[in-house]
Amino acid sequence: MSRKAATILVTGGCGYVGSHTVLSLLQSGYKVVVLDNLSNTSSKAGDAAVPEALKRIQKILSKEDELIPFYAADITDKPALVRIFEAHPDISAVIHCAGLKSVGQSGLKPLDYYNVNITGTIHLLQVMEEYNVRRMVFSSSATVYGDPPNIPIPEDSPIVASMSPYGRTKVFVEHAIKDFCVASEVKQAGYVKEQEAKGAKAEKDYRWSAILLRYFNPAGAHPSGIMGEDPQGVPSNLMPYLAQVAVGNLEKLTVFGQDYPTKDGTCIRDYLHVVDCAEGHVAALEKIERDESAGNFECKAYNLGAGTGCSVLDMIHAFSKAVGRDLPYVISARRPGDVPNLTADPRLANKELNWKAIKTLDEMCEDLWRWQRNNPSGYRTLN
Ligand code: WQD
Repeated sequence: MSRKAATILVTGGCGYVGSHTVLSLLQSGYKVVVLDNLSNTSSKAGDAAVPEALKRIQKILSKEDELIPFYAADITDKPALVRIFEAHPDISAVIHCAGLKSVGQSGLKPLDYYNVNITGTIHLLQVMEEYNVRRMVFSSSATVYGDPPNIPIPEDSPIVASMSPYGRTKVFVEHAIKDFCVASEVKQAGYVKEQEAKGAKAEKDYRWSAILLRYFNPAGAHPSGIMGEDPQGVPSNLMPYLAQVAVGNLEKLTVFGQDYPTKDGTCIRDYLHVVDCAEGHVAALEKIERDESAGNFECKAYNLGAGTGCSVLDMIHAFSKAVGRDLPYVISARRPGDVPNLTADPRLANKELNWKAIKTLDEMCEDLWRWQRNNPSGYRTLN
């Protein structure tokens, strides 16, 4: 897969992590095709044929006339997936970010989560196999670790399927991809044997490569201030909620619990700048390229985290500093399902992906504030 020739399909490419990943890929010399059903973005505001998130990417690249190939489609719609692979025979890998991602909502609509995240991914894997595209980078989550026994969390920490339907979908999909990779090795071995028996050369390669990226807490926005997170309705995650408080759309933050066994009683998370997170996807693709050229095909999980724990109160203070005034908050009861500490051990990703989170907490807060200040209504704000 030579980089200049490689075209990458990014599912969920108009979403928060997906759109930053599309930008990083284009900046690194890849070509990109985007699939998104636009269900969690106001990106479709204005000209629906070109989602606003993609227009902003073109603007950052100063390539406003070069449209990024885009398909408004759902991953559960298999015929639509087939049409994309038919139209783009040059797709050589898929970065799979599409999916439903609200922990709270997943408890209320579990079947939607199982359908989109699991059935959708299975359809995607089937169509990829049909079109001989056997490289995937998958958006997984630190939520697969549940309430881990050790901090920082290494990749071989036990995976649990007990936290939420959302978390379970990530666990199941990780297993599905891994099983599919293992099966592809068996298929290849059988094929090679068959060819040998015929005295023919084994010209095809059925083996899969996959990287499961376990994101910790992506936060911040692109430093340009024109691209960022654009959740629909009241955000459930800490950083977009704080940003809405700062811009005056919400009155105050509610801190969920101050009785955890942590330094200030609030939960610790490993916040990761979204641009670093996006770069992690490019690093993962490059790792697959390196491995395949050395004859290695595997499925492996990596933590995408900074390796630094930050409490909710630390985050309120850091973001208040970026905004230039104290942001109002109240302490309330714990949120069901939260665990005290999720901090990554990122050393495996640092070493094997040649990747490291390089942006600071202050940059994360300043970039988020620039985005929110310039775009108080997300992509509905006309720039
Ligand atoms: C962070 C901390 C809250 C909101 C989840 C998913 C994970 C990933 C990101 C992907 C916690 C506290 C929050 C608020 C608060 N999903 N908080 N008041 O729960 O670590 O991770 O989102 O897309 O897979 O599990 O992120 O931002 O919701 O919470 O006090 O209004 O902030 O209790 O300690 P979380 P979060």
